Amino acid sequence: MNTHPSVQSGTSFTQKSDRQKQGYAFAQRMTKTPRSFIREILKVTENPEIISFAGGLPNPALIDVEGIANAAAAVLAEDGRSALQYSTTEGYRPLRQFIAERYKKRLGLSVSPDEILITNGSQQCLDLIGKVLIDAGDHVAIERPGYLGAIQAFSLYEPCLHPVILREDGPDPVMLADVAGRYPLKLFYGVPNSQNPSGITYSDERRREIAGILEGSGTLFVEDDAYGELNFSGRSSPSVREFLPEQTIITGSFSKILAPGLRMGWVVAPPEVMEQIVVAKQASDLHSNYLSQRIAFEYLCRGKIDARVQTISAAYKSQCDLMIRMFEEMLPESVTYTRPSGGMFVWLTLPDGISSMDVFERALRQQVAVLPGIPFYVDGGGQNTLRVNFSNATPDKIRTGVERLSAVIRELQDA
Ligand SMILES: Cc1ncc(COP(=O)(O)O)c(C=O)c1O
Repeated sequence: MNTHPSVQSGTSFTQKSDRQKQGYAFAQRMTKTPRSFIREILKVTENPEIISFAGGLPNPALIDVEGIANAAAAVLAEDGRSALQYSTTEGYRPLRQFIAERYKKRLGLSVSPDEILITNGSQQCLDLIGKVLIDAGDHVAIERPGYLGAIQAFSLYEPCLHPVILREDGPDPVMLADVAGRYPLKLFYGVPNSQNPSGITYSDERRREIAGILEGSGTLFVEDDAYGELNFSGRSSPSVREFLPEQTIITGSFSKILAPGLRMGWVVAPPEVMEQIVVAKQASDLHSNYLSQRIAFEYLCRGKIDARVQTISAAYKSQCDLMIRMFEEMLPESVTYTRPSGGMFVWLTLPDGISSMDVFERALRQQVAVLPGIPFYVDGGGQNTLRVNFSNATPDKIRTGVERLSAVIRELQDA
């Protein structure tokens, strides 16, 4: 007799149902999409004792909590009922107007608010772009190494991904021309400013060259500009859209300059592409969080964003400078690294034969976490590369962490 009220005779919860025995019939596309390796690693590094250079979080100390709280209070007090209502799929027009004006002011780039749609973080742009442009088997080129979030978002639409090697000044133009000549590329995805994971910024010349290679083809360039405002010199590079207006989609984000938790991003696309994106966005979630849009806009109208961007960029520059100085002092000469002019990451290349997974495991035993570069390669490789984040560590942690990391690398080199 059952003594527990929730256990009914005949449908015992302790026996597996037929469905569970067979396994769930997931869509094919899920088998082709890598789990985010970063999320798996971040679980290991959640322990506060660990000095983590593995993640990619903006520094929480630089989020203007008070300013955002004041903006939120004003929106709710002055227009709460409307701000908590459903809204349009494209997003709050004054916010789109603000973004368009900022492009003009920062880059001299003409963008109409009609070409802008507000998304749930810029990560959603990648999903929407995949949804409206990629059929299974379509050809898509991506930097090598490439942003893991894009690899993941696009993989859901089952493209053939073609890596294009990223050199010090941008994607290798010969390789891009070769890939574009051999395959009918739907998209070429890149992060021209302070790339994730490498920290590389394309030269102006390389931007023009990419535009020249793609011009007149059926390929759209997806310019992911998550880090464009975080440049250490204050000098902004031109958008590829300047040279390739009808074939460039830009994705932008408030995550790194305002707060990632607001989940505010946007996509800029030519009108025909935008029409399709609006339909896809409507089907996905009707519209982005309207309250967040209103709060972000209110904050931006208070005129403090330029000072905030300067504060964040200056802080990241000094964290980056310290990390590079520590690398120069501590790392064996056989290790090479990028010297970012913005963003949040440095990219390390270890001598051949030293595995970044071994470095990861040994460093973790010394309470330091770094991110092996392997998942950023769509064609394998990268076993001797590491991504190191500097935005979210104090100077003390940078000093101690690099000391320990260097000792681990030397140990493996001498073994
Ligand atoms: C290159 C790049 N693109 C897009 C994103 C997504 O950012 P969000 O969705 O917060 O705008 C990130 C996040 O780190 C990124 O590094």
